[in-house]
Amino acid sequence: MSTLEELKQYARERYIPVMLDETKELLFEVVQKRQPRRILEIGTAIGYSGIVMLSAAPDALLNTVEMSETAVAVAKANFAEWGMSKRVNIFVGDARQIVPQLTGSYDLVFLDGPKGQYEVFLPYLTELLTVGGTLVCDNVLYKGLVEHVPENKRHKHITVARNMHAFLEDITANSHYSTQLYRIGDGVTVSTKLK
Ligand SMILES: C[S@@+](CC[C@H](N)C(=O)[O-])C[C@H]1O[C@@H](n2cnc3c(N)ncnc32)[C@H](O)[C@@H]1O
Repeated sequence: MSTLEELKQYARERYIPVMLDETKELLFEVVQKRQPRRILEIGTAIGYSGIVMLSAAPDALLNTVEMSETAVAVAKANFAEWGMSKRVNIFVGDARQIVPQLTGSYDLVFLDGPKGQYEVFLPYLTELLTVGGTLVCDNVLYKGLVEHVPENKRHKHITVARNMHAFLEDITANSHYSTQLYRIGDGVTVSTKLK
């Protein structure tokens, strides 16, 4: 069986973005502490973060959304290798279409999909999360650009940085959540749904 380290290397060698080590450690800690039964993830990639979460919560089930069919094929093989296939359901397609159609409830959501869409997803995810549930969002400081949005409008990441800035302001002020921002990796928020 591939180790987590080997999965990470596989991804990095192919320029597939997977979460940074500090983020992985924080996510593992949060999931282990909160022991969610139902987890939703946006952005499966090759299943690395999914495997981390399912390892931290042995009774949890994972629904995860990914648009890249190539990544999904690798993720399926990885979940199978880790003996986790029965605990995982992958929705293949564009999260912008899938997320508004999701039903049911989740105790933990890990948002790590399209970086310009977090603000659009938030009302849907809030609806899906149980009270007391946890929303973890990666890349909220987006390469350091969120707190220092460059003036140069041609900057290729500017729209994403502006959208992420709006999201960060919303989630930290949102009365539905108590949010902590971690300045680790690319920036991570951990929010608890209060009502
Ligand atoms: C940062 S990676 C996810 C990494 C993964 N969570 C991990 O740490 O192992 C983001 C993933 O979101 C996927 N993605 C990007 N836009 C998407 C969209 N609109 N709908 C679904 N998936 C999308 C990408 O294909 C990519 O695999």
